[in-house]
Amino acid sequence: MVEGRVTRGTTGTNRLRRVDRWIASLPALRTVADPLVVDLGYGASATTTLELYDRLVRIRPDVELVGVEIEPERVRLASERAKPGVSFRLGGFEIPGREATIIRAFNVLRQYDESEVLDNWKRMSARLQPAGTLVEGTCNEIGRVCSWVAITKNGPQSLTVSLRLPELERPSIVAERLPKALIHRNVEGERVHDFVEALDRHWQYNSGLGAFGPSQRWIAVARAMKADGWPVHGPQSRWKLGELTVDWQAVAPIGFRWS
Ligand SMILES: C[S@@+](CC[C@H](N)C(=O)[O-])C[C@H]1O[C@@H](n2cnc3c(N)ncnc32)[C@H](O)[C@@H]1O
Repeated sequence: MVEGRVTRGTTGTNRLRRVDRWIASLPALRTVADPLVVDLGYGASATTTLELYDRLVRIRPDVELVGVEIEPERVRLASERAKPGVSFRLGGFEIPGREATIIRAFNVLRQYDESEVLDNWKRMSARLQPAGTLVEGTCNEIGRVCSWVAITKNGPQSLTVSLRLPELERPSIVAERLPKALIHRNVEGERVHDFVEALDRHWQYNSGLGAFGPSQRWIAVARAMKADGWPVHGPQSRWKLGELTVDWQAVAPIGFRWS
């Protein structure tokens, strides 16, 4: 049985470039025997699935991309653009077919209720290969403000925010585009609220570094967050891109439990 429900199909060219770039850096993609990537809920057109394939095939020529969509007409339309290495099929959170190395579910759960997130994370991550990662997140219409949670079979591991830095006024703009598990938790007393506030504070404090370019300013923010004790992942080459990844435990909702 197909699990889930049809939601708006909004998508756009190059919208998911930031998360694609991060996915391309995952070591498992290079090492697994069966590099299968699922794009769950690709929306009204096949565009972002095809873009993900083009980005991954450069680093893993035998990668296979399967777009899975719950809306039959979107599957029919996308199938017209199938090509070697890329196919489309009807399905939902149960994710038909072989176990995947990566499952990308972008701008899908945001249209569900917060109470539905954990069960669907579990459903999707059960369909991963042992070294696999589910990447579940949200972005704005043109993909300049993004965030996602990386989830393995053992549960959520990290939160990443990825922002286009030129013209960025405040990193807390990401509060509007947090994954569903966190978007309603940006309130006093929740860790993700402290996280967003700390980003803003350090961005403000380091405004003088803007003269050397916004990347230098963001690198200073990442260093300062680390110095404050936030479990920030490296390396610096990721920060330069406007990315910042922290351990999930540092931002998890109060009372969150995987099992
Ligand atoms: C807003 S679009 C996102 C498109 C694309 N991923 C993007 O970020 O640009 C969400 C899509 O997810 C689909 N969807 C919702 N629930 C789903 C589920 N359980 N399984 C598969 N697709 C689903 C909807 O039908 C819709 O086409």
